Amino acid sequence: MLIKPAGSLKGEIHIPGDKSISHRSVMFGALADGLTEVTHFLQGADCLSTISCFQKLGIAIENTKDRILIHGKGLHGLRPSASMPDVGNSGTTVRLLSGILAGQPFSSALTGDASIQKRPMKRIITPLREMGADLFAANGNDCAPLTINGSKLHGIDYTSPVASAQVKSCVLLAGLYADGSTSVTEPYLSRNHTERMLASFGADISSHGTTAVIHPNPVLTGQKIDVPGDISSAAYFLAAALLVPNSEVLIHNVGINPTRDGILRAAASMHANITKLNEHTISGEPVCDLLVKSGSLTGTVVEGDLIPALIDEIPILAVMAAFANGTTIIKDAAELKVKESNRINTIVTNLKNMGADVTATEDGMIIQGGKPLHHAVIDSHDDHRIAMSFAVAALCAEGGAEIENAECVNISYPKFYQDLNSLCC
Ligand code: S3P
Repeated sequence: MLIKPAGSLKGEIHIPGDKSISHRSVMFGALADGLTEVTHFLQGADCLSTISCFQKLGIAIENTKDRILIHGKGLHGLRPSASMPDVGNSGTTVRLLSGILAGQPFSSALTGDASIQKRPMKRIITPLREMGADLFAANGNDCAPLTINGSKLHGIDYTSPVASAQVKSCVLLAGLYADGSTSVTEPYLSRNHTERMLASFGADISSHGTTAVIHPNPVLTGQKIDVPGDISSAAYFLAAALLVPNSEVLIHNVGINPTRDGILRAAASMHANITKLNEHTISGEPVCDLLVKSGSLTGTVVEGDLIPALIDEIPILAVMAAFANGTTIIKDAAELKVKESNRINTIVTNLKNMGADVTATEDGMIIQGGKPLHHAVIDSHDDHRIAMSFAVAALCAEGGAEIENAECVNISYPKFYQDLNSLCC
C-alpha cells in the first residue's frame, strides 16, 4: 500500500478498544458465574482469536458487533475442546490461556500461526512447571504448539526475570486453581490490567510495588465492562499529529493507566505539545482525551522502568525520534526482539532504508534525529505495529512509502488506514 505525504492532520478521532483489556474481558468473563457484557471490545484478529478459543472450550459467546456477551460458567466450567484452540498471532491469548488450562481437570493443546510458533514460551513453561503443571512444547523447541495436561497446582512465589504482563498474568491465572496463594514479582511493573479487572470480578488479588499476590478459588461474578480506547493505537495518531506540520488532532477516550502511559511521558520529555482533557475513569481504568498539536521534537533517553510502560510504542517512538532534533537512546528493551517481529531489526532496517541515521544495540537503538526521510519499500514482517509506525513515517517522508503486507494491521486496528486518511488534509 502506498502512503503519500500529508499536508496536515486535522479533526477528531475515536480509536478502538484496548487490546489487552478486550482479551481479559473475555477470559475473565468465561471464568465468572453469569453474564459479562463488554462494550467497545476490540474487533481485531487477536481478540477474535481469544473469543474463538473460549468458544471451543465450551463457553457461549455472542458477538453482536455492538457488544460481546459472555455466558460465563464459573471457575470450573471450561470443557475439553474437540479441536485444537488456535490463538492465531496472539501472544496474550496463548500465554494467559496456558495458565488457565494448566489447572483444569483435562488435557488441551494450543496452537497458533507461524509467528506465534517462533515466540518464546519457556518464560511461562518454567513457572507453570514450578507450580506442578504438566505442559510441554509439542515440537521440543519451547514454542507453541503446546500440550497442557491439566494438573493439581501449588501456589508459588515467583520472581520473573522479565517485566512481562503476559508472564505475570499467566502465573496469576494458574494461581486461581492452586492450593495456596501465588505471588509474582517483576523487575519493573508491567501493565496491571489483570490485577485491576480480576479484582472487579471478585478475585482476592493485591499488589505491592512490583509484586502481585492472588489467592485461589474465588467466586468470580460476571461484570459490565466498557473498554477504554487503546493508547497503543492512539500513539500512531499522536505521532502523526506531532510530526506533520500545522496539525491539530483530538483523540477521544484514551486509556492512560500509569503502567501504559510511557509514550506520553517520553513525548513530554521530547517537548511534544499534548494536553490531557476530560480525565475520568471507565471500568476501573483511567482515561482522557488527548489534544495534540504539531511542533518540533527533541531527542530523549528511554530506559529502565519506562520501557514496560511503552514497550509496544517503541516502533512509533523510534519514528518520532528520527524526526526529532538530537539523539534518542532506547535501552533496556531487549524484549523488542521477541515481539511479533524482532522489532530492533525491523525498526532499524526500515528506518535506515528511509534514510535515517540509526544504529541497533543489544537492547535497543540509538537514533540521530533530523535527517530528512525519503521513499522506501517497508517490509512489515507481518507485524501490525511496524506497518502502522511506518505508515506514519511515510506521511512526513519525501515520496511517502510503500508498506508491504499492509493488511497485517487487522491484528489490532482493522480500520487504521481509513481512520488515518480521514484526518489527512
Ligand atoms: C500484553 C503484554 C505485553 C505487550 C502485548 C500485550 C498483554 O507483552 O507487548 O502486546 O496484554 O499482557 P509482554 O507481557 O510479553 O511484555
